[in-house]
Amino acid sequence: MPGLSGEGHTDDPHRGGLWFGGDYNPEQWDAATWAEDDELMRRARVNTATVGVFSWSLLEPQEGTFEFGWLDDALDRLHAGGVRVVLATPTASPPPWFTLAYPDAMPVRPDGTRLWHGSRDTYCAAAPAYRRAARRIAGELGRRYADHPALALWHVHNEYGTMCWCDHAAAAFRSWLRGRYGDPAGNGRASQDSKASLAALNEAWGTAFWSQRYSSWDQVLPPRATQYLGNPGQELDFRRFWSDELLAAYLEQRDVLHAHAPRVPVTTNFMGPDHLVVDPWSWGREVDIVAVDHYLPTAEPEAGHADIAFVSDWARGAGRGRPWLLMEQAPSTVVDAGVLVHRAPGRMLADSLGYVARGADGVLFFQWRASRAGAEMYHPALVPHAGPDTRVFREAVGLGEALERIAEVAGSTVTADAVVLVDAASRWALENRGLPSPHVRHLDVARAAHAALWRSGVGCDIAAPSADLSRYRLVVVPAVYLLSEEAAASLRAYAAGGGQLAVTFCSGIADQWHRIRGGGYPGALRDILGIRIEELHPLQPGASVPLTLAEAAPGGARPSPRGEAGQLTGRVWAERLRAEGADVLAAYAAGALAGLPAVTRHAFGAGTAWYLSTLLVADDLTAVLRGIAAAAGILPAGALPGVRVTRRRDGRGRSWLCAVSHSAATVTLPAVGLDLITGREVSGAVDLPPGGIAVIRESAPKKLRMTVLSMIGTPLSQIEPM
Ligand code: GLA
Repeated sequence: MPGLSGEGHTDDPHRGGLWFGGDYNPEQWDAATWAEDDELMRRARVNTATVGVFSWSLLEPQEGTFEFGWLDDALDRLHAGGVRVVLATPTASPPPWFTLAYPDAMPVRPDGTRLWHGSRDTYCAAAPAYRRAARRIAGELGRRYADHPALALWHVHNEYGTMCWCDHAAAAFRSWLRGRYGDPAGNGRASQDSKASLAALNEAWGTAFWSQRYSSWDQVLPPRATQYLGNPGQELDFRRFWSDELLAAYLEQRDVLHAHAPRVPVTTNFMGPDHLVVDPWSWGREVDIVAVDHYLPTAEPEAGHADIAFVSDWARGAGRGRPWLLMEQAPSTVVDAGVLVHRAPGRMLADSLGYVARGADGVLFFQWRASRAGAEMYHPALVPHAGPDTRVFREAVGLGEALERIAEVAGSTVTADAVVLVDAASRWALENRGLPSPHVRHLDVARAAHAALWRSGVGCDIAAPSADLSRYRLVVVPAVYLLSEEAAASLRAYAAGGGQLAVTFCSGIADQWHRIRGGGYPGALRDILGIRIEELHPLQPGASVPLTLAEAAPGGARPSPRGEAGQLTGRVWAERLRAEGADVLAAYAAGALAGLPAVTRHAFGAGTAWYLSTLLVADDLTAVLRGIAAAAGILPAGALPGVRVTRRRDGRGRSWLCAVSHSAATVTLPAVGLDLITGREVSGAVDLPPGGIAVIRESAPKKLRMTVLSMIGTPLSQIEPM
């Protein structure tokens, strides 16, 4: 599968380095502005522009009539300036003529409201007219630009994620369900297969409840607006269906583009994990490089860096470890409660380095130049409304310089000994109404566990429950609520084979159809964990529960954030849990569960299975997971206070130490090599100022590198000068 280095046709001088630039919409500007764009891109060392994302109504102003002149000019101009082009298919925003020609292809909400054009993402991807029109415009672009020398990557659509509840969607949903439940032909006739598959669907969805039994396939509908709670199995399958239906739409375009330009890689930009409608693991196999849009949810440095780490590790996981591309981020702001908040000066560089440190081969932005009109006219851009004489543009220039200096890291990869499992179906199922608590979100728990390892300096992958786990020393299962037999068997084999398995509450409770596994929670994992849960005791928002820690607990008896020795604090969730073979490491210390187990450890085969029945507060979760990581023999890659360190390696024995500081103080980082940012030799240690970064091409012999590496995991006070 092609990656970013060396593919496409561009022969610009930056080829093979890190990609820098962003969405560029020349159609919104005049010739004088284009000339300024050329000059400013050169100044900022922009080497990549994403073009045409929302250009359908200009490219095809009437059905079947195409106008490519302006796009030809834009691509030629960018190429002349040494800027590679990521060329989008514009199918996320059909033109107004499309609505009037094909009103049945406009999306319908669960309550039956049909939407109109005037915004974007207004189509039903299951509507044949939409799919035809999308294939046609992709084919026209493919034919015209396959050999353009600027073309480096196809960008299909934008942030796939529009769901629809219309009759086209209903028909496609039924056909998908027939395939899933055993009647792949799905021809609508009352065959034996058709009866058996309907019976399987009735069983999977539990339709004996509330008189929902289906007696013929045409009764099966999308989960449209109902009087009260919907059917959880139906809702979950509808989410899965849309992920697959949108994937089919993507694949049609990808295949058209590959046919025209076999050497040019194809991708689509995923929304960040919290907004993603599609399953990143199945989609990750179908893109030539994973591309992700990430808009930071906070301006606070530590939480921001933790979020960047989570999303980066997730993006790398979707590409099964290969380098990936940050397709969009906002230059200088985050939106907090609807209000634009500026990130501190310097964050554009430090945050961008955070992505690169975890495997990104490019950092692109939405967008190059702030629009003067339209729904996102106040969206920040590398060239703000105030123009280039601004802090933001100066920071963009600084970032462009830095990325050029560290260009040699492109193509290298990041590996980790620990993995956190993330599962789209568990996320969707936990969003159902009617569960014990609406406050348990799979991604919140995954993030909390990932952040705890991040704070401990433990490098971490993120993977699907179905991934091959054998190479990891530690596997964390964070509220993976649904587990299939196969996934449970994989976890069993992992622990039995000597792995350290850390499981949190709300994992393995239901099967893949969202049916509860009986005999006590967590049905799929009871024997591995050596526990049995009788009752779920979710906590109210803001409530907490104290835990008493046993001496043998990971992290040892230590002061809690509240200063009481040997105490931990849980929130969100608790359980009436019985140890059936497991050691009790912490017990509930108050309330209805006082004295009962809260955190346990169970020897299973050659490995160990740990269980956390509540969401420990951040410091406590960090201490516990750090202890479990230590039991797994994981050496932190970097745990200096306020500095996160990762290492990228290539296949030729070269490695780069990447450090990003969110500390308010200067921190001394042990390292040996050449700091590519400053160009200075580092012969033992480098000082990182507040917010500082370093990318060090390591040159020390392997033994010395190991010493440096282990020192990074050591408290500074114990490090001997070299
Ligand atoms: C998304 C889209 C962009 C733009 C940004 C705004 O990521 O892909 O077109 O709307 O959001 O933040």
